[in-house]
Amino acid sequence: MKLDLPFVRAQFPAFAEPSLQGWAFFENAGGSYPCGHFINRLTAFYTKNKVQPYYPYPASMLAGELMDESYKRMAEYLNVEASEIHFGPSTTQNVYVLANAMRPMWKDGDEIIVSCQDHEANAGAWRRLADRGIKIVEWHVDRESGLLNLEDLDGLFSDRTRMVAFPHCSNVIGHVNPVKEISKRAHAYGALCVVDGVAYAPHGFPDLKALGADIYLFSLYKTYGPHLGLMYVKKELIMKMENQSHFFKEGITRSMLTPAGPDHAQIGAVSGILDYFDAVYEHHFEEKAVPSQRNTALNSLFREQEKALLERLLGFLRSRDDIQILGTPNVEGRVPTISILPLKKNLEAVYTTLTQHKLMLGMGDFYAVRPLMDMDIPRQPGVLRFSFLHYTSMKEIEQLIAGLKNAL
Ligand SMILES: Cc1ncc(COP(=O)(O)O)c(C=O)c1O
Repeated sequence: MKLDLPFVRAQFPAFAEPSLQGWAFFENAGGSYPCGHFINRLTAFYTKNKVQPYYPYPASMLAGELMDESYKRMAEYLNVEASEIHFGPSTTQNVYVLANAMRPMWKDGDEIIVSCQDHEANAGAWRRLADRGIKIVEWHVDRESGLLNLEDLDGLFSDRTRMVAFPHCSNVIGHVNPVKEISKRAHAYGALCVVDGVAYAPHGFPDLKALGADIYLFSLYKTYGPHLGLMYVKKELIMKMENQSHFFKEGITRSMLTPAGPDHAQIGAVSGILDYFDAVYEHHFEEKAVPSQRNTALNSLFREQEKALLERLLGFLRSRDDIQILGTPNVEGRVPTISILPLKKNLEAVYTTLTQHKLMLGMGDFYAVRPLMDMDIPRQPGVLRFSFLHYTSMKEIEQLIAGLKNAL
Protein backbone atom coordinates (compact mmCIF):
# COMPACT_ATOMS: atom_id res chain seq x y z
CA MET A 1 0.00 0.00 0.00
CA LYS A 2 1.39 3.38 -1.04
CA LEU A 3 0.37 6.73 0.42
CA ASP A 4 -1.87 8.73 -1.94
CA LEU A 5 0.08 11.97 -1.67
CA PRO A 6 -2.31 14.24 -3.63
CA PHE A 7 -5.10 13.08 -1.31
CA VAL A 8 -2.97 13.78 1.75
CA ARG A 9 -1.85 17.23 0.57
CA ALA A 10 -5.44 18.16 -0.24
CA GLN A 11 -6.16 17.89 3.51
CA PHE A 12 -3.73 20.75 4.29
CA PRO A 13 -4.88 24.25 3.27
CA ALA A 14 -1.26 25.49 3.31
CA PHE A 15 -0.49 23.49 0.16
CA ALA A 16 -3.21 25.39 -1.72
CA GLU A 17 -2.32 28.79 -0.25
CA PRO A 18 -1.18 31.16 -3.07
CA SER A 19 1.42 32.99 -0.92
CA LEU A 20 3.17 29.69 -0.14
CA GLN A 21 3.34 28.43 -3.73
CA GLY A 22 6.85 27.50 -4.79
CA TRP A 23 8.13 27.43 -1.20
CA ALA A 24 9.21 24.01 0.04
CA PHE A 25 8.69 23.51 3.76
CA PHE A 26 11.56 21.83 5.64
CA GLU A 27 11.06 23.23 9.16
CA ASN A 28 8.44 20.69 10.17
CA ALA A 29 10.34 19.76 13.34
CA GLY A 30 9.65 23.33 14.44
CA GLY A 31 5.92 22.90 13.77
CA SER A 32 3.87 21.14 11.10
CA TYR A 33 1.22 22.63 8.87
CA PRO A 34 -2.19 22.17 10.54
CA CYS A 35 -4.68 19.90 8.80
CA GLY A 36 -7.97 21.28 7.49
CA HIS A 37 -10.01 19.02 9.78
CA PHE A 38 -8.44 20.70 12.80
CA ILE A 39 -8.78 24.24 11.40
CA ASN A 40 -12.48 23.64 10.67
CA ARG A 41 -13.12 22.34 14.17
CA LEU A 42 -11.30 25.28 15.74
CA THR A 43 -13.27 27.78 13.65
CA ALA A 44 -16.54 26.01 14.52
CA PHE A 45 -15.70 26.04 18.24
CA TYR A 46 -14.82 29.74 18.15
CA THR A 47 -18.02 30.45 16.22
CA LYS A 48 -20.53 28.31 18.09
CA ASN A 49 -19.10 27.13 21.40
CA LYS A 50 -16.83 29.84 22.79
CA VAL A 51 -18.58 29.87 26.15
CA GLN A 52 -17.58 28.41 29.50
CA PRO A 53 -18.00 24.63 29.03
CA TYR A 54 -19.91 22.08 31.12
CA TYR A 55 -22.97 24.22 31.97
CA PRO A 56 -26.39 22.77 31.11
CA TYR A 57 -27.22 25.04 28.14
CA PRO A 58 -26.67 23.74 24.61
CA ALA A 59 -23.62 25.76 23.49
CA SER A 60 -21.84 25.00 26.74
CA MET A 61 -22.81 21.34 26.88
CA LEU A 62 -21.50 20.86 23.35
CA ALA A 63 -18.25 22.68 24.24
CA GLY A 64 -17.70 20.20 27.09
CA GLU A 65 -18.62 17.24 24.91
CA LEU A 66 -16.14 18.34 22.23
CA MET A 67 -13.38 18.59 24.84
CA ASP A 68 -14.23 15.17 26.30
CA GLU A 69 -14.25 13.72 22.80
CA SER A 70 -10.66 14.91 22.25
CA TYR A 71 -9.43 13.23 25.44
CA LYS A 72 -11.26 10.03 24.54
CA ARG A 73 -10.25 9.81 20.89
CA MET A 74 -6.63 10.77 21.54
CA ALA A 75 -6.43 8.07 24.22
CA GLU A 76 -7.90 5.48 21.82
CA TYR A 77 -5.34 6.32 19.14
CA LEU A 78 -2.47 6.11 21.65
CA ASN A 79 -3.91 2.92 23.19
CA VAL A 80 -4.27 4.30 26.73
CA GLU A 81 -7.12 5.58 28.91
CA ALA A 82 -8.69 9.03 28.58
CA SER A 83 -7.89 9.80 32.24
CA GLU A 84 -4.19 9.33 31.42
CA ILE A 85 -4.17 12.16 28.85
CA HIS A 86 -3.42 15.76 29.90
CA PHE A 87 -3.42 18.82 27.65
CA GLY A 88 -1.16 21.67 28.77
CA PRO A 89 0.09 24.83 27.02
CA SER A 90 3.32 23.23 25.73
CA THR A 91 5.71 20.39 26.39
CA THR A 92 8.16 22.76 28.07
CA GLN A 93 5.50 23.82 30.53
CA ASN A 94 4.25 20.27 31.02
CA VAL A 95 7.72 19.09 32.04
CA TYR A 96 8.15 22.12 34.32
CA VAL A 97 4.90 21.24 36.10
CA LEU A 98 5.83 17.55 36.23
CA ALA A 99 9.18 18.24 37.86
CA ASN A 100 7.41 20.17 40.62
CA ALA A 101 4.71 17.53 40.97
CA MET A 102 7.22 14.68 41.19
CA ARG A 103 9.79 16.23 43.55
CA PRO A 104 7.76 15.33 46.66
CA MET A 105 7.77 11.67 45.52
CA TRP A 106 11.50 11.57 46.22
CA LYS A 107 13.77 11.94 49.23
CA ASP A 108 16.81 14.20 49.58
CA GLY A 109 19.78 12.48 47.97
CA ASP A 110 17.67 10.46 45.52
CA GLU A 111 19.01 10.41 41.98
CA ILE A 112 17.57 11.11 38.54
CA ILE A 113 19.29 10.36 35.24
CA VAL A 114 18.83 13.02 32.57
CA SER A 115 20.09 12.57 29.04
CA CYS A 116 22.23 15.14 27.23
CA GLN A 117 20.45 14.41 23.93
CA ASP A 118 17.31 16.29 24.93
CA HIS A 119 15.77 19.55 23.84
CA GLU A 120 15.97 21.86 26.87
CA ALA A 121 12.26 21.21 27.56
CA ASN A 122 13.09 17.79 29.03
CA ALA A 123 16.39 18.93 30.53
CA GLY A 124 16.40 22.20 32.46
CA ALA A 125 13.39 21.62 34.73
CA TRP A 126 14.87 18.32 35.93
CA ARG A 127 18.33 19.78 36.51
CA ARG A 128 16.84 22.58 38.64
CA LEU A 129 15.87 19.89 41.16
CA ALA A 130 19.58 19.86 42.12
CA ASP A 131 18.76 22.96 44.21
CA ARG A 132 16.06 20.97 45.98
CA GLY A 133 18.10 18.01 47.18
CA ILE A 134 18.05 15.72 44.13
CA LYS A 135 21.28 14.37 42.65
CA ILE A 136 21.43 14.84 38.88
CA VAL A 137 23.26 12.14 36.90
CA GLU A 138 23.95 13.06 33.28
CA TRP A 139 23.76 10.52 30.44
CA HIS A 140 26.08 12.00 27.83
CA VAL A 141 25.94 11.44 24.08
CA ASP A 142 28.80 10.05 22.01
CA ARG A 143 30.96 13.00 20.99
CA GLU A 144 31.23 11.91 17.32
CA SER A 145 27.84 10.40 16.54
CA GLY A 146 25.60 12.23 19.02
CA LEU A 147 23.99 8.90 19.97
CA LEU A 148 23.07 7.72 23.46
CA ASN A 149 24.75 4.48 24.42
CA LEU A 150 22.89 1.85 26.49
CA GLU A 151 26.08 0.53 28.11
CA ASP A 152 26.79 4.05 29.38
CA LEU A 153 23.30 4.14 30.88
CA ASP A 154 23.86 0.84 32.68
CA GLY A 155 26.80 2.41 34.51
CA LEU A 156 24.67 5.29 35.80
CA PHE A 157 21.98 3.39 37.73
CA SER A 158 22.14 3.02 41.48
CA ASP A 159 19.70 1.86 44.14
CA ARG A 160 18.72 5.53 44.56
CA THR A 161 17.80 6.09 40.88
CA ARG A 162 14.18 7.27 40.72
CA MET A 163 13.77 8.42 37.13
CA VAL A 164 15.37 8.46 33.68
CA ALA A 165 14.47 11.37 31.33
CA PHE A 166 15.39 11.02 27.66
CA PRO A 167 14.01 11.71 24.17
CA HIS A 168 12.27 9.13 21.99
CA CYS A 169 14.19 10.91 19.28
CA SER A 170 16.38 14.02 19.33
CA ASN A 171 15.27 17.10 17.38
CA VAL A 172 18.78 17.57 15.93
CA ILE A 173 20.28 14.04 15.79
CA GLY A 174 17.12 12.35 14.44
CA HIS A 175 18.08 8.94 15.84
CA VAL A 176 15.26 6.88 17.40
CA ASN A 177 16.10 5.63 20.89
CA PRO A 178 14.95 2.15 21.99
CA VAL A 179 12.37 3.33 24.52
CA LYS A 180 11.15 -0.15 25.36
CA GLU A 181 14.63 -1.40 26.17
CA ILE A 182 15.56 1.70 28.18
CA SER A 183 12.29 1.46 30.13
CA LYS A 184 12.99 -2.19 30.89
CA ARG A 185 16.40 -1.32 32.31
CA ALA A 186 15.02 1.63 34.31
CA HIS A 187 12.14 -0.42 35.69
CA ALA A 188 14.58 -3.09 36.87
CA TYR A 189 15.88 -0.41 39.28
CA GLY A 190 12.37 0.73 40.16
CA ALA A 191 12.97 3.98 38.25
CA LEU A 192 10.35 5.79 36.14
CA CYS A 193 10.84 6.73 32.49
CA VAL A 194 9.90 10.20 31.24
CA VAL A 195 10.12 10.31 27.47
CA ASP A 196 10.05 13.41 25.28
CA GLY A 197 8.28 12.23 22.13
CA VAL A 198 8.03 15.68 20.52
CA ALA A 199 10.45 14.93 17.67
CA TYR A 200 9.08 11.42 17.15
CA ALA A 201 5.26 11.69 17.27
CA PRO A 202 4.88 13.75 14.04
CA HIS A 203 6.15 10.68 12.17
CA GLY A 204 3.55 8.36 13.68
CA PHE A 205 1.84 8.22 17.06
CA PRO A 206 3.31 5.51 19.28
CA ASP A 207 1.31 2.72 20.90
CA LEU A 208 1.91 3.91 24.45
CA LYS A 209 0.87 0.66 26.06
CA ALA A 210 3.48 -1.25 24.07
CA LEU A 211 6.19 1.38 24.49
CA GLY A 212 6.62 1.02 28.24
CA ALA A 213 7.25 4.68 29.17
CA ASP A 214 5.59 5.88 32.38
CA ILE A 215 5.23 9.42 31.13
CA TYR A 216 5.30 10.45 27.46
CA LEU A 217 5.05 13.96 26.08
CA PHE A 218 4.57 15.54 22.66
CA SER A 219 3.45 18.82 21.12
CA LEU A 220 0.29 18.93 19.04
CA TYR A 221 1.39 21.89 16.93
CA LYS A 222 3.97 19.53 15.44
CA THR A 223 1.34 16.86 14.77
CA TYR A 224 -1.03 18.85 12.52
CA GLY A 225 -3.04 20.46 15.34
CA PRO A 226 -3.12 23.26 17.95
CA HIS A 227 -0.36 24.83 20.02
CA LEU A 228 -0.79 22.52 23.00
CA GLY A 229 1.37 19.94 24.74
CA LEU A 230 -0.01 16.45 25.30
CA MET A 231 1.19 14.51 28.30
CA TYR A 232 0.44 10.87 29.03
CA VAL A 233 0.85 9.92 32.69
CA LYS A 234 0.29 6.32 33.75
CA LYS A 235 -2.83 6.28 35.88
CA GLU A 236 -1.28 4.76 39.01
CA LEU A 237 1.29 7.57 39.13
CA ILE A 238 -0.73 10.74 39.26
CA MET A 239 -2.11 10.31 42.78
CA LYS A 240 1.48 9.88 44.04
CA MET A 241 2.31 13.34 42.66
CA GLU A 242 1.68 16.69 44.31
CA ASN A 243 -1.34 18.59 43.04
CA GLN A 244 -0.11 21.62 41.04
CA SER A 245 -3.52 23.22 40.62
CA HIS A 246 -5.96 24.96 43.03
CA PHE A 247 -6.26 23.22 46.40
CA PHE A 248 -9.85 22.17 45.65
CA LYS A 249 -8.64 20.34 42.53
CA GLU A 250 -6.90 17.72 44.67
CA GLY A 251 -7.99 14.33 43.37
CA ILE A 252 -9.36 15.74 40.08
CA THR A 253 -6.68 14.22 37.92
CA ARG A 254 -7.50 16.14 34.73
CA SER A 255 -6.70 19.39 36.57
CA MET A 256 -3.86 18.46 38.91
CA LEU A 257 -1.08 18.82 36.33
CA THR A 258 -2.54 21.74 34.37
CA PRO A 259 -2.42 24.77 36.68
CA ALA A 260 -2.68 27.17 33.74
CA GLY A 261 -6.24 26.01 33.05
CA PRO A 262 -7.19 24.44 29.74
CA ASP A 263 -7.54 26.21 26.40
CA HIS A 264 -11.09 24.99 25.76
CA ALA A 265 -11.29 25.71 22.03
CA GLN A 266 -7.95 24.19 21.16
CA ILE A 267 -8.66 21.08 23.21
CA GLY A 268 -12.11 20.84 21.62
CA ALA A 269 -10.49 20.95 18.19
CA VAL A 270 -7.80 18.30 18.90
CA SER A 271 -10.16 15.66 17.47
CA GLY A 272 -9.54 17.28 14.08
CA ILE A 273 -6.10 15.59 14.01
CA LEU A 274 -7.86 12.25 14.46
CA ASP A 275 -10.50 13.13 11.85
CA TYR A 276 -7.56 13.59 9.49
CA PHE A 277 -6.00 10.25 10.48
CA ASP A 278 -9.40 8.54 10.07
CA ALA A 279 -9.84 10.10 6.64
CA VAL A 280 -6.41 8.87 5.50
CA TYR A 281 -7.15 5.42 6.92
CA GLU A 282 -10.53 5.16 5.21
CA HIS A 283 -9.08 6.37 1.92
CA HIS A 284 -6.43 3.64 1.91
CA PHE A 285 -7.92 0.67 3.76
CA GLU A 286 -11.25 -1.14 3.58
CA GLU A 287 -11.01 -3.20 6.78
CA LYS A 288 -12.81 -1.90 9.83
CA ALA A 289 -10.34 -1.31 12.66
CA VAL A 290 -10.27 0.28 16.11
CA PRO A 291 -8.25 3.53 16.40
CA SER A 292 -5.08 1.91 17.79
CA GLN A 293 -5.08 -0.55 14.85
CA ARG A 294 -5.70 2.30 12.40
CA ASN A 295 -2.75 4.05 13.98
CA THR A 296 -0.47 1.05 13.37
CA ALA A 297 -1.54 0.90 9.71
CA LEU A 298 -1.02 4.65 9.27
CA ASN A 299 2.42 4.42 10.87
CA SER A 300 3.61 2.02 8.15
CA LEU A 301 2.00 4.10 5.43
CA PHE A 302 3.66 7.31 6.67
CA ARG A 303 7.00 5.60 7.33
CA GLU A 304 7.20 4.08 3.82
CA GLN A 305 6.51 7.47 2.26
CA GLU A 306 9.11 9.19 4.46
CA LYS A 307 11.67 6.42 3.83
CA ALA A 308 11.58 6.80 0.04
CA LEU A 309 12.33 10.51 0.34
CA LEU A 310 14.88 10.03 3.11
CA GLU A 311 16.73 7.48 0.95
CA ARG A 312 17.09 10.06 -1.83
CA LEU A 313 18.12 12.94 0.45
CA LEU A 314 20.58 10.94 2.57
CA GLY A 315 22.03 9.38 -0.59
CA PHE A 316 22.79 12.87 -1.87
CA LEU A 317 24.18 14.06 1.48
CA ARG A 318 26.42 10.98 1.81
CA SER A 319 27.85 11.66 -1.65
CA ARG A 320 29.26 15.01 -0.49
CA ASP A 321 32.66 15.35 1.15
CA ASP A 322 31.98 18.95 2.19
CA ILE A 323 29.42 18.32 4.92
CA GLN A 324 29.13 16.49 8.24
CA ILE A 325 25.81 14.75 8.92
CA LEU A 326 24.83 14.59 12.60
CA GLY A 327 23.77 11.14 13.79
CA THR A 328 23.51 8.11 11.54
CA PRO A 329 23.72 8.76 7.78
CA ASN A 330 21.40 5.79 7.04
CA VAL A 331 17.64 5.55 6.75
CA GLU A 332 17.15 2.82 9.35
CA GLY A 333 16.62 3.93 12.92
CA ARG A 334 16.17 7.61 12.19
CA VAL A 335 13.39 10.07 11.40
CA PRO A 336 13.67 12.60 8.58
CA THR A 337 15.09 15.36 10.78
CA ILE A 338 18.58 15.88 9.46
CA SER A 339 21.16 18.33 10.73
CA ILE A 340 24.35 19.07 8.85
CA LEU A 341 27.48 21.19 9.18
CA PRO A 342 29.05 22.57 5.99
CA LEU A 343 32.79 21.88 6.17
CA LYS A 344 34.06 24.18 3.44
CA LYS A 345 31.60 27.07 3.38
CA ASN A 346 30.27 29.45 5.99
CA LEU A 347 27.06 28.06 7.48
CA GLU A 348 25.18 31.37 7.45
CA ALA A 349 26.07 31.94 3.79
CA VAL A 350 24.83 28.45 2.92
CA TYR A 351 21.61 29.14 4.81
CA THR A 352 21.04 32.45 2.98
CA THR A 353 21.47 30.78 -0.42
CA LEU A 354 19.04 28.03 0.57
CA THR A 355 16.33 30.54 1.51
CA GLN A 356 16.87 32.22 -1.86
CA HIS A 357 15.92 28.84 -3.37
CA LYS A 358 12.54 29.20 -1.65
CA LEU A 359 13.40 26.65 1.00
CA MET A 360 11.88 27.14 4.43
CA LEU A 361 14.29 25.56 6.90
CA GLY A 362 16.09 26.27 10.14
CA MET A 363 19.54 27.19 11.41
CA GLY A 364 20.74 27.38 15.02
CA ASP A 365 20.74 25.21 18.15
CA PHE A 366 16.98 24.45 18.16
CA TYR A 367 17.16 24.56 22.00
CA ALA A 368 19.07 21.26 21.79
CA VAL A 369 21.98 23.02 23.44
CA ARG A 370 23.24 20.12 25.55
CA PRO A 371 23.74 17.64 22.67
CA LEU A 372 25.58 20.33 20.72
CA MET A 373 27.76 21.07 23.79
CA ASP A 374 28.54 17.35 24.15
CA MET A 375 29.52 17.25 20.47
CA ASP A 376 31.61 20.44 20.68
CA ILE A 377 29.43 22.20 18.13
CA PRO A 378 29.17 25.95 18.81
CA ARG A 379 25.62 27.16 19.48
CA GLN A 380 26.30 30.06 17.11
CA PRO A 381 25.74 29.50 14.27
CA GLY A 382 24.70 25.97 15.31
CA VAL A 383 23.61 23.54 12.59
CA LEU A 384 21.50 23.56 9.44
CA ARG A 385 18.40 21.41 9.85
CA PHE A 386 15.97 19.98 7.30
CA SER A 387 12.94 18.14 8.57
CA PHE A 388 10.06 16.72 6.63
CA LEU A 389 6.90 14.69 7.14
CA HIS A 390 4.73 12.21 5.24
CA TYR A 391 3.08 15.05 3.33
CA THR A 392 6.36 16.16 1.75
CA SER A 393 6.81 15.41 -1.98
CA MET A 394 9.81 14.13 -3.95
CA LYS A 395 9.63 17.38 -5.95
CA GLU A 396 10.31 19.31 -2.74
CA ILE A 397 13.25 17.00 -1.94
CA GLU A 398 14.66 17.72 -5.41
CA GLN A 399 14.23 21.45 -4.75
CA LEU A 400 16.22 21.03 -1.52
CA ILE A 401 18.95 19.05 -3.28
CA ALA A 402 19.20 21.64 -6.07
CA GLY A 403 19.48 24.35 -3.42
CA LEU A 404 22.18 22.46 -1.55
CA LYS A 405 24.19 21.83 -4.75
CA ASN A 406 24.19 25.56 -5.31
CA ALA A 407 24.81 26.62 -1.75
CA LEU A 408 27.54 24.22 -0.64
C1 LIG B 1 12.31 17.41 20.96
C2 LIG B 1 11.57 18.61 21.49
N1 LIG B 1 11.15 18.58 22.75
C3 LIG B 1 10.45 19.59 23.29
C4 LIG B 1 10.17 20.72 22.55
C5 LIG B 1 9.40 21.83 23.19
O1 LIG B 1 8.07 21.75 22.87
P1 LIG B 1 7.10 22.94 23.25
O2 LIG B 1 7.35 24.04 22.25
O3 LIG B 1 5.73 22.36 23.13
O4 LIG B 1 7.42 23.38 24.61
C6 LIG B 1 10.59 20.80 21.23
C7 LIG B 1 10.30 21.98 20.42
O5 LIG B 1 10.86 22.23 19.39
C8 LIG B 1 11.30 19.71 20.68
O6 LIG B 1 11.73 19.72 19.41
